[in-house]
Amino acid sequence: MDTFVIEGGRRLCGRVRVNGSKNAALPLLAVALLADAPITLRDIPTLADIKNMLRLLGELGVSRLDPGAQGQTDGPIDGGVVTLQVTDPSQSHARYDIVRTMRASICTLGPMLAKRGFARLSLPGGCAIGDRPVDIHLRGLAALGAQITVTSGDIIARTPPGGLRGTTIFLGGPFGSTVLGTANVLCAATLAQGRTIIECAACEPEIVDLANLLNAMGAQIQGAGSPRLVIDGVRELNGADWTIIPDRIEAGTLMMAAAITNGDLVLDNCPMDALMAATHTLEAAGVNFAPVTALAPTQMPGGAAPGPQARNRTPALMITSGSSDPSRGGSDDPMRRTVRVTSNRVIKPVEVTTQPHPGFPTDLQAQLVALLTLADGNSVVTEKIFPDRFLHVAELLRMGAKIVRTGATVVVSGVKGLVGAPVMASDLRASAGLVLAGLAAEGTTVVNRVYHLDRGYERLEDRLRGLGASIERVDEKELAGKDAVGVG
Ligand code: EPU
Repeated sequence: MDTFVIEGGRRLCGRVRVNGSKNAALPLLAVALLADAPITLRDIPTLADIKNMLRLLGELGVSRLDPGAQGQTDGPIDGGVVTLQVTDPSQSHARYDIVRTMRASICTLGPMLAKRGFARLSLPGGCAIGDRPVDIHLRGLAALGAQITVTSGDIIARTPPGGLRGTTIFLGGPFGSTVLGTANVLCAATLAQGRTIIECAACEPEIVDLANLLNAMGAQIQGAGSPRLVIDGVRELNGADWTIIPDRIEAGTLMMAAAITNGDLVLDNCPMDALMAATHTLEAAGVNFAPVTALAPTQMPGGAAPGPQARNRTPALMITSGSSDPSRGGSDDPMRRTVRVTSNRVIKPVEVTTQPHPGFPTDLQAQLVALLTLADGNSVVTEKIFPDRFLHVAELLRMGAKIVRTGATVVVSGVKGLVGAPVMASDLRASAGLVLAGLAAEGTTVVNRVYHLDRGYERLEDRLRGLGASIERVDEKELAGKDAVGVG
C-alpha cells in the first residue's frame, strides 16, 4: 500500500491545469449504455474510480474503440480520450465485486434499464462517509413505470410492457436533491415515452454536463442547472464527441493548497462558475483570486526569479486589474478560466454550511477544515449533506489542530502551527484535507492508504511537487523498513 511522505512548510508557487472532472466523467461514461453509436469523451482523468467504471462497462457489454485502450475496456487512457460503444447488450448484471469498490456504479442503472429493458445491479452498501441509500433513485425509476425488486442484495429493475412512461417526479430527500439519483432518472427519462418533469433535481455542474451531452446525442432536455428538468422522450440517442468539464473539487483543493501554504498558484482550466460558494468563502478567509491572461514569458507567480524548470511550468502572466469578480478572467468560458490564487498571511475564521450546489460543496469540507485549523480565531463548519463526514477531524487533532465536534458541526479554533504526524483517513476528501495539513505542518507527515486519494486525484503528489512541495509516494513496507533501520 502506498503512503505519502510530506515535509511541510514549503510555499507552493507555479502554474497547474485543472483536470477533467471525476464526478462528471462517471455518469457520462455510463451514458455509453444508452447510445446507438460510439461516444468519445475527452479529458477523462486517469483515476481508480474511472478504471473501475470502465471495467464495469466492459462487463456490461461496452467496448473501447480508442487505440490507447489496447483492446481492454479498462486499458490505459491515452491523452484523456475514451471511445465507447455497446457491442453486447445482453449483459445487464453489475456484480457486487465491482459495485462494492465504487458506489458510482449505481449510475449504470438508469441507462441499462431504459435501453435494455432490464438491469440487475448489486445494491451499493454504505461507505466511510455515511449510509448512502439509493431509495430516491429507485423511487424515481419506479415513477417512470419500472418494476423494481431487491433480491439477494441485488436491485432488479424491469421496464413495464410498452416501456418507461414520462411523468412528474419529486426527487427530493431528507438532505435535499441527489446528484446520481438525478443522473439515473434523467438518463432513463430520455428514452421514456412522453414528457418527464423532475422536481427538486440536482443543480450540480456535473448534471448540467450530463444533460448537455445527452442533448448533443439527440435528447430533449430543458432546465439543466435548475431544480426543474423537463425531458421529452426520444426513440434513440446517437453518438457524440464530448469534452467533460474541469473538476471543481480538484480546483477547490488546489486553491486551498495555495492558501494553506501562503502560496501563489495559477490555475488553468479552472471552473470558476462552478465554484462561487467556495471562492466566496475563501475570499472571506483572506484568499485572493485574480483573473489572468497568458502573455509572453516573463515572471513567476510569487515574484520569484524563474529557474529553467520553473519557466517550463509557468508561462507569463498578466493580472487583469480592477476586477472584483473572481469569475472573470482567462478564457471566455466561465468554466475554464485562468486564475491566480494568493492568500494573506493571516487566514480569517469563517462560518460555513455545506449544501447542494450552488452552496458550499461537501466534497471541499475536509480541505476547508484543514485550512481553518490555521485561522486566526474560531470557525464553525456544519455538514448538511453527509452529517458523519468528519473522518479527518481525529487525524487533524493528531497534528495539533483544535477542533470540537458536536453532531454535524465542528468548531475549529485556529492554532499557530500544525505538527507533522502519521495520519490516515478512509475517505477520499478527508485524505485530501490531510495532505493539505501536511503541506503546512512543521516536520514530516505520513499520509497512509493513499489509494483513497488516488480515487479522485490523478498523481496528486507529482503535481504538488511540480509546484514546490516536498512530497513522495512511498510503499508502506519500504517506509517500515526505513523506520526499522532508523530505530535499529
Ligand atoms: N440520499 C438519500 N437517498 C438516495 C440518494 C441520496 O437519502 O437515494 C442522500 C445521501 O445519503 C446524502 C444526500 O442524499 O445525504 C446527497 O447524496 P447524493 O445522492 O447527492 O450523493 P451521490 O450522488 O451518491 C455525489 C458525488 C459525491 C458527492 C455527493 C454530494 C459522485 C460520483 N459522487 O454522490 O462525491 O459528495 O454527490 O455532492 O458524483 C466525492 O467525490 O468524494 C464524493 C463523495
